[in-house]
Amino acid sequence: MYRSHSCGELRASHVTQEVTLAGWVQKSRDKGFMIWVDLRDRYGITQLIFDEERTPTNVFETAKTLGREFVIQVKGEVIEREAKNSKIPTGDIEILVKELTVLNASLLPPFTIEDETDGGEDIRMKYRYLDIRRNPVKDSLMFRHKVTMEVRKYLSDQEFIEVETPYLIKSTPEGARDFVVPSRMNEGQFYALPQSPQTFKQLLMVGGMDKYFQIVKCFRDEDLRADRQPEFTQIDCEMAFVEQEDILNIFEGLTRHLLKEIKGIDVEKFPRMTFDHAMKTYGNDKPDIRFGMEFGELNEVAQHKDFKVFNAAELVVGIAVPGAASYTRKQIDKLIDWVKRPQVGALGMVYVKCNEDGTFKSSVDKFYDQEDLAKWAEATGAKAGDLICVLSGNTNKVRAQLSALRMEMAERLNLRNPAEFAPLWVVDFPLLELDEETGHYHAMHHPFTSPKPGQLEMLGTNPGDVKANAYDLVLNGNEIGGGSIRIHDKEMQAVMFKHLGFTEEEAKAQFGFLMDAFQYGAPPHGGLAFGLDRLVAILGGQETIRDFIAFPKNNSGRDVMIDAPAPIDDEQLKELSIKLDL
Ligand code: AMO
Repeated sequence: MYRSHSCGELRASHVTQEVTLAGWVQKSRDKGFMIWVDLRDRYGITQLIFDEERTPTNVFETAKTLGREFVIQVKGEVIEREAKNSKIPTGDIEILVKELTVLNASLLPPFTIEDETDGGEDIRMKYRYLDIRRNPVKDSLMFRHKVTMEVRKYLSDQEFIEVETPYLIKSTPEGARDFVVPSRMNEGQFYALPQSPQTFKQLLMVGGMDKYFQIVKCFRDEDLRADRQPEFTQIDCEMAFVEQEDILNIFEGLTRHLLKEIKGIDVEKFPRMTFDHAMKTYGNDKPDIRFGMEFGELNEVAQHKDFKVFNAAELVVGIAVPGAASYTRKQIDKLIDWVKRPQVGALGMVYVKCNEDGTFKSSVDKFYDQEDLAKWAEATGAKAGDLICVLSGNTNKVRAQLSALRMEMAERLNLRNPAEFAPLWVVDFPLLELDEETGHYHAMHHPFTSPKPGQLEMLGTNPGDVKANAYDLVLNGNEIGGGSIRIHDKEMQAVMFKHLGFTEEEAKAQFGFLMDAFQYGAPPHGGLAFGLDRLVAILGGQETIRDFIAFPKNNSGRDVMIDAPAPIDDEQLKELSIKLDL
């Protein structure tokens, strides 16, 4: 038996018991005649004491040689501590050690294994297994486990069946590039790793599974950000014989269950907002609704004066930043520089200070009088003491820019409280999205999403206006899930592919299996997928998903610990019939 108790378990009630513990040496203090060692495992820390008088000499001598992160096993008696430590649960006791076995020595770790470490991000990633010994990382992984277990419990109770789908498949378009895997047995041919199990879960519905879920890895070769990894995990779900309303209710239920079980929070029925409303009011399809600063469109009240910039703009729109009228000229100039950064891309910013005495002071006083500015304040909901920030230009661009400014100001004003949870359904997404570069439409969600009833005909005339039975679940300004009601009719799916620019042959070659299946009694169906990493991170009060993944990739998509990706040798290339001509 390696241990009778864990390092987080022993209390004053165990005093006089003989115990065996095993773990890692967190630190050791050698006072000459007395040595204290903090022994750590997953469950906590227990203090060991080696005493020249009471500990056998050979044990005492070995204790002197212990270094940080040595793995040891000790046997000894639980005794009451003289100086108690109220900061740790085992702080009332210590172990008077009688036997010591060094199970494994350790090199000096490259950073301190403590909550506050001296190790930078790179070194901690290279030695991730050491980083995992630290409480913040360990706790995040345990938190993830807890969320995952609750998800499985809830869905299983609702009669969902977890089914595994293959990883070596054919491309499933979700808008990113595929990771591909060469096939040795099929020369010159490749599998694609799934961007999601989308087509398989639809086939499971044709197979009569009715309610499916899977906690599943997905792979997308796309640019990485704090909330994106090339391989990430979805809680993927699908149901047959459902309408959008059924799906929203079930997964609102799941989210509410998690908020209750994990955070102890009861939330009201989730608000719903159309995509159009979200774009108009927040400039964004995943608005953070924990705070206001809603957009006020100003075209009517700001155009047709002598200010050419606004007159030439498609959209003039502003937000009222609470309490920011006190900003100095220098602070405002800095803010203007901020919106002009290439990442935001505004050409400039007009501002209005709403003074406490009810007057206004703006950067465009030359063109607008107090009465005009009062109308701006009304449109943006500005109160005395607020600063109205106004951007203008192309509608889509200016909305994105003002949305970035809104989030930045919320961050600066501490309005994004991680302990507050504001879920939101965004519904009625457009079916198609125009790719400005190519001039082609592509599916905004994916090509299997059904248009709203009666809107199919509009595909030929005004495709950009067709709305879909598609929805996203947003939590605190993050898209944590998305889904749709699917097309289940072969003809309609064929029409969809045609509008997406596939020839009949291409559609058949890529998705013939799905269209074939639709001919054998495909039930009406729909579903959604949560991003598990994002969900866990946000429930954990953070937005960087890397911290909640055991072995994440860095921003260049590399695993710096195992050093992947890596070249493969010529022999292997030959076997795969791959010729590299670099
Ligand atoms: P979608 O592409 O919206 O839908 O993905 C679902 C959710 O997965 C998360 N997500 C990611 N998380 C981390 N890193 C990434 N690179 C990443 N990409 C997506 C997001 C997102 O909301 N098959 C459809 C679902 C359906 O229609 O049922 C799909 O994959 O939180």
